[in-house]
Amino acid sequence: MTARIIDGKAIASKVREEIATEVAEFKQKHGFTPGITVVIVGDDPASHVYVRNKERAAQQVGMNGAVVKLSAETTREQLLQTVSDLNGDASVHGILVQIPLPDHLDEDEIVRAIDPRKDVDGLHPENVGLLFSGQTRFAPATPQGVQRILVEEGVEVRGAHVVIVGRSNLVGKPLAGLLLGRGEGANATVTICHTGTKDLAAETRRADVLVSATGIPGSITGEMVKPGAVVIDVGTTRVEDASRKSGYRLAGDVLFDEAAKVASAITPVPGGVGPMTIAMLLHNVLLSAKSTVA
Ligand SMILES: NC(=O)c1ccc[n+]([C@@H]2O[C@H](COP(=O)([O-])OP(=O)(O)OC[C@H]3O[C@@H](n4cnc5c(N)ncnc54)[C@H](OP(=O)(O)O)[C@@H]3O)[C@@H](O)[C@H]2O)c1
Repeated sequence: MTARIIDGKAIASKVREEIATEVAEFKQKHGFTPGITVVIVGDDPASHVYVRNKERAAQQVGMNGAVVKLSAETTREQLLQTVSDLNGDASVHGILVQIPLPDHLDEDEIVRAIDPRKDVDGLHPENVGLLFSGQTRFAPATPQGVQRILVEEGVEVRGAHVVIVGRSNLVGKPLAGLLLGRGEGANATVTICHTGTKDLAAETRRADVLVSATGIPGSITGEMVKPGAVVIDVGTTRVEDASRKSGYRLAGDVLFDEAAKVASAITPVPGGVGPMTIAMLLHNVLLSAKSTVA
């Protein structure tokens, strides 16, 4: 079997077009513009690229996209004050604090300081609780992107056995929460694997849908895939590559060539899950703006 290659870029662009249309209608009807503000602390070049991309993507769909740049020496009190100011700013519907933060700042504390109604990353404990109690407000963007890919590709998730490799708060756990729901693209039987899993290959080979989010290139081989399974590769790891101008390339977790011979459909890296993340983040910002007029 040769797997169909899932075009995440095309799906993301469709989602962004839908959002742009809805934003235009929203502005017309309510007379104000949905807005997201991203806070970045420090000089990490990769983080600055991600933040610029989010700002630009927001503006491209007609939203306000703003960035607050703080120095690496920013104190806990200064960052908490910035978050508090944004919490109180009615023109800001989504607040995102770019991770990682410098070591002297406690990421969990900062996330807890964000107004949960503006926590478009879906990482505040209140939003995690709502997701797992079936009352989702904001699901984290990457797992939402995975679910949307499955829906758009017509993958039957209901009743399927989905195996997720990785249990992070950002990807693995919220994805399990989404797929355990009862709506469209959900109602699956879900297994989550991690480094404590005894026989990973035995688990992954039982998957109708296999999602990998380990961040370890090559951690999923062709032998670990059940024939005909759908493989979603969330992993994006920078690997040194002297042949590239940038000096690196992005690698997924899955050995693509091997897995593509066994799977029925597979996401590439790059161009699979990655483009969906920003699209679903914008979706959350729009949801947040809508909730202020509901
Ligand atoms: N495309 C996107 O937009 C996007 C967004 C978010 C993340 N990502 C990528 O997705 C990957 C995962 O991100 P993350 O934040 O979830 O990472 P993370 O916090 O490092 O979590 C990785 C998870 O994988 C598990 N794991 C690692 N090696 C394993 C192995 N050999 N066998 C079984 N489980 C293993 C870990 O288990 P333990 O818990 O036992 O340590 C952990 O639960 C990264 O490459 C990241 O860059 C991409």
